[in-house]
This record gives sequence, C-alpha cells and structure tokens, in this order.
Amino acid sequence: MERSKLLIIDDEAVIRDGLKRVLESEAYVVETCSSGFQAIGLLQQREFDLIITDLKMPGMSGIEVLKSVRTLQPDIPVILITGYASIDTAVEAIKNGASDYISKPFAPDILLEKVQKALSQRSVPLDDICLKEELSLHHGFHQFIGESKEMQKVYHRIKLVATTNSTVLITGESGTGKELAARAIHDNSPRKDHPFVAVDCSSLAETLLESELFGHVKGSFTGAVQTKTGLFKVADGGTLFLDEVSNISISTQAKLLRVLQERKITPIGGTQLVPIDIHLVAATNKNLKTMVSEGTFREDLFFRLNIIPIELPPLRDRKQDIPILIRHFLKKYTVEIGKEIRGVAPDVLSFLENHPFPGNVRELENMIERAVVLAEGDIIRNEDLELWDSSEIFSGSMIEQIPLNAEELKEMKRHIREHAMDSLESLFVRNALERNGWNVTRAAEETGILRPNFQSMMKKLGISIKGEH
Ligand SMILES: Nc1ncnc2c1ncn2[C@@H]1O[C@H](COP(=O)(O)OP(=O)(O)OP(=O)(O)O)[C@@H](O)[C@H]1O
Ligand SMILES: [Mg+2]
Repeated sequence: MERSKLLIIDDEAVIRDGLKRVLESEAYVVETCSSGFQAIGLLQQREFDLIITDLKMPGMSGIEVLKSVRTLQPDIPVILITGYASIDTAVEAIKNGASDYISKPFAPDILLEKVQKALSQRSVPLDDICLKEELSLHHGFHQFIGESKEMQKVYHRIKLVATTNSTVLITGESGTGKELAARAIHDNSPRKDHPFVAVDCSSLAETLLESELFGHVKGSFTGAVQTKTGLFKVADGGTLFLDEVSNISISTQAKLLRVLQERKITPIGGTQLVPIDIHLVAATNKNLKTMVSEGTFREDLFFRLNIIPIELPPLRDRKQDIPILIRHFLKKYTVEIGKEIRGVAPDVLSFLENHPFPGNVRELENMIERAVVLAEGDIIRNEDLELWDSSEIFSGSMIEQIPLNAEELKEMKRHIREHAMDSLESLFVRNALERNGWNVTRAAEETGILRPNFQSMMKKLGISIKGEH
C-alpha cells in the first residue's frame, strides 16, 4: 500500500518537528513548511493526502490556508491546530470544511487517531466507486441501478411476474422507478416483441380517457370524426401500463373493472365486444387502501389490480445504493454534457447520503445533472448541488433576485468563485512581494513558485511592481 503524504504547516519549529517525528514513526511521509504561503506554493506542485495546519500564524491564517486548499484541491482533508480549545474557532473551522481540529498541547495518540480518521474519510473518488461497481455482479437489473437487498427483492419479483399474465400493481413514492419497473416487466416477458403502451391516467379528462382506453366509433360523440382504436387494442399482445391509476374516476373504474373481468372491450358508441390480450401493469404513488376506505377507489378494482404487488422502496431506505447511482448519473451526464468530472468531494457524498430525497432517484438524477452543468473543476463540490444556501456570499440582497435562469446562475457562481479565488491569490502575492521589498525573484523563491508563474499570477491579478507600469 502506498504511504500517505502529509503536509504540516506551523510557524513554530518545535511544533513542526514534534509533529513530524510522531507521524513519521507511523510510516507517514511528512513534509513541513513554516507558512501558509509556502504551503500554497507546494500544493500547486505536489499532491498530498492530508494537511495539518496551525490556526494562528503570521501572514496567512490557518482558516485562509483551509479556504484556499478547498479551492485548489477540494478533496484533501485538513486538520486545524488551535492554541486553545474554543468553540468559535472549531465551528468556523468546520464551517470552512476542516475535517477536524486538535488543540495544543496534544497527546501523540490523539493526533494519530485523528489523522487516521481524516484519511479514512477521504473522498470516495470516482475510481473507487467504479471499482465497486465492477466487482459487483449484481449492481442492477435492466436499467435499474442499485444492489441493496431491497432492490434485489424488486428485481426478483419483476422477473417472476414477467413470465405470468397476472395483473401487477406497482406502488412507491414519486421518482422511485415505477415506470422503469413497468418497462422492465415488459422487456423481460415473452411479450417483449409486442407493444408496450403507457397511459398517464392523470393527464386526461374522464371522457377522453375512456375514449383513449377503449376507442370510439365515428360519430359516437361530438368530435369523434373518425373511428379510433383504443389503447387496450393497440397494446394487443403486449403490455398496457396504467400510470397514476388512482386518478381514474369512479365511473371509469367500473368500466375498467368490467374489462379486466371479461378481457373484452366495447369501444364508445360501439356494440361489438372486442377481445383483448394484454398484460396489465398499473402504478400509483397514492395509498389505494386508504382511498378504498375513504370511498374514492373501488375495493373490487383494487383487489383485481393488486394481484401481484411490487413496492419500490424510497431512496432514503437504501442509502447504500447512493454511491453507485451517483456514479451512474455522473457517467451519463458527463458524456451528455461533454465535461470531464472525476468524482464528488467527500462532503458532497456525505451530504447526499444523508439527504432525505423526497423526490427519490429522479431528484438525485436532477441534482447530478445540474451539478455537472454548474461544476467548474473536475470534481463536484457542495456549491454545485445546493444552489441557494451554501455560499456565505449569497447575502440577503442577492437572494432577492431569485429566480435566475440556469445561465445567469452559472455566470453568477463563476463570478463569485473567481472573485473569491482572486482576492485570496492577490493577498498571497501582495504579501509575498511586501515581505521581499517588491523583489519578484525573492518573492517567488520564498513562496516556492517558479518565477515565470509568479509573474503571470501578478499579471492576471493586475499587480505591478511599484513604480513600474
Ligand atoms: N434504480 C434506478 N436506477 C436508475 N435510474 C432510476 C432508478 N429509479 C428511477 N430511475 C430514474 O429516475 C427517473 C424517475 O423514474 P420513474 O419515472 O420510473 O419514477 P416513477 O416512480 O414513475 O415516478 P412518478 O411517481 O413521479 O411518476 C427516471 O429517469 C428513471 O430512469
Ligand atoms: Mg411515473
């Protein structure tokens, strides 16, 4: 296993060396520096797995180091060292994304414990999730992603019911994959080469719905200028999916019940019974049992539909599926949008794993799509997800301007980030120059940045040597 690389930043040599000794005894590779400025220079050249920084230092404070690390390499954990345990600084540190903090003086074993913990909570890079996905033989089924035992049960039931002709009732909250389940049943059934017809029962008024489902004969009502084949007939030999079945009116419910009992339909205005051969799959996000007890859904129809129930679990009850779902949607949208994103920052993953997801998988999918659009680095950060409450910079007056469209929002975020980054960089460059009597060569040397790079930073930030123009 590769040894973890640690960077220690402290202005006091005694602390620096003490930390280094303790950590090296545990086989960590340790590098030290005496200021935040030096650290930023190092971070631009090399990769580290963990940073331990003093909070109070002359020049650049630990919080500033933390903030700039968050911008430069968002997935490196940072542990802050505070001179005295203070709730305020701890809160500020955590708010700015510190993984942990230690107060001086500290016992070596506490330090080691915290270091270990921070390293183990490092980001779950895309590669790891990817590996997990490859190792797992059953990461999904059909177009479903998810390997939790709750989803395995769903897959099992779908496979069983696909071989039968029994009516299926799919239940589950919005966005849990009810329509996906209906399609999976069809695609895994012997009917797969026949039509799959989906009807959204909530989108049509009562009479229109009936004429859609059963068809009508020319002239049977105003507007029936032509004979129309009902969807029951269109789906002949295949699967008919009645989505949002709870929205069917009581009188249409009676007609539907008859069709299911007789397996024949009568088009509106027609006299002939037309035999139908369909597998009926219905779905609802309402509790039909409650509707039955309230008298808004016929009990006999409920029993007819509920021959084989399939219940899709909400996402919050199968959190273990969240990482592979993230991976799946990242892959989908990076390809679609044409961006390279490596993964999500650790705090994003823990945020998503603890999000209640009232809109379930659809909500997660929308979040990832939006984050891929908004992301400016190659990693999804918290700000890319939470649009309104993440950034302190979104002060009251800015919130007044909602709603912004996606383009405006993107522009605004870009501006804020660049601005924040610029002012930090500017502070860094100016301070370095100030300390070195505005000698570029010496300032570059001190910060560990190559001279040409230092100069181009100055140029970008509009900093020129005093007296020069
Ligand atoms: N387990 C899953 N794996 C991958 N994608 C999923 C999964 N579950 C749902 N989706 C995706 O989430 C979106 C919503 O799924 P679907 O339309 O099937 O949900 P629904 O339960 O019918 O929602 P609603 O009640 O709002 O109609 C779709 O884009 C679907 O592809
Ligand atoms: Mg649906």
